[in-house]
Amino acid sequence: MKISCIGLTKICFLLSVSVCVVFFLFIPWMTHGSLTQHPLLACNLTCSNRYLESQLKIARFSPRGHNQSDVLQGWKNFNVQGGGLKDTNYLKGPLRIDDLFIAVKTTRKYHKSRLDLLLQTWISQAKEQTFIFTDWEDQELRQKAGNQMVNTNCSAVHTRQALCCKMAVEYDKFVLSSKKWFCHLDDDNYLNLRALLNLLSAFPSNADVYVGRPSLDHPVETLDRVKGDGSSSLKFWFATGGAGFCFSRGLALKMSPWASMGNFISTAEKVRLPDDCTIGYIIEGMLEVKMQHSHLFHSHLENLQRLQQNSLLQQVTLSYGGPKNRRNIVRIDGSLTLEQDPTRFKSFHCLLYPDTRWCPDK
Ligand SMILES: *[C@@H]1O[C@H](CO)[C@@H](O)[C@H](O)[C@H]1NC(C)=O
Ligand SMILES: *[C@@H]1O[C@H](CO)[C@@H](O)[C@H](O)[C@H]1NC(C)=O
Repeated sequence: MKISCIGLTKICFLLSVSVCVVFFLFIPWMTHGSLTQHPLLACNLTCSNRYLESQLKIARFSPRGHNQSDVLQGWKNFNVQGGGLKDTNYLKGPLRIDDLFIAVKTTRKYHKSRLDLLLQTWISQAKEQTFIFTDWEDQELRQKAGNQMVNTNCSAVHTRQALCCKMAVEYDKFVLSSKKWFCHLDDDNYLNLRALLNLLSAFPSNADVYVGRPSLDHPVETLDRVKGDGSSSLKFWFATGGAGFCFSRGLALKMSPWASMGNFISTAEKVRLPDDCTIGYIIEGMLEVKMQHSHLFHSHLENLQRLQQNSLLQQVTLSYGGPKNRRNIVRIDGSLTLEQDPTRFKSFHCLLYPDTRWCPDK
């Protein structure tokens, strides 16, 4: 009786010791998952459990040292083990529209004037692949777009912080998807899906690719405040966000230490650069992957009238001048008048998809 009582106390003692040991072993693993280092308070993001779980898994195979092949290997193992991120045909097979994750960045005041046009035109051809990132729970847009509309809960002001907040949500949502390519667009872009698939198919399927239109005719030079101590400088190219750009999944995963789970916001804060510029900084500056320059992407900052009509169908994105520059539109012959189609997006859409119900020649 007495002996078994002592035995019981011993067992209790051993049990509590092992609970303590397990607990202390657990702490470094938790902090390694970068949960404690990067609270998302900066832009009031809320983190669902799935979000945290998947990030912990990613953090386990993309340590701060970011050995690139380790990351890819980890990613493959992760999928073999049946993690939350199903990615079965990531490394092979021809490119299909379903391989794309298309993020359209917008804001409350453009839901009607800009998004309706996109929903009517190109988004109608890629409904399931296109996600609309906005800053307001608009019931009307929710009805039209359903779960494809993402309320980022980011601020609606046009500041660097607010824009970076949206980019951070776009990135994280892409990583959680199983898509091969991430493409970012603004709400004044027409996306020519066929031209995009053509362009992306030209790259080897497992290559690290970052493609878009260079914002300037020279690389940006800035102080290296992330890797270095801020005394040396860093030169890098970046793709202008207003023309749209894409990067591949493999590259996105390598960007994780600087981009996932709110790290994008802190990176942009450190380098004090706008969202699209920060993407270039991470890819060219940190990962030393060269941007692929393509002049098939177009923003409202260019002279769009200069685009040759006979090359229009090869262009990946188009845009149009805002209210201050209404005449900056692509020249395109079509049966729709300037009043009917001031941006020329509908005319372009009818060239690509002549069978569309509302096209005049139909
Ligand atoms: C924004 O907030 C809503 C309501 O709290 C939440 O359901 C949604 O997941 C949040 N969005 C993001 C991207 O965290
Ligand atoms: C974000 O959170 C802060 C503090 O909790 C609050 O003051 C601010 O209004 C919030 N911003 C938005 C856009 O919800």
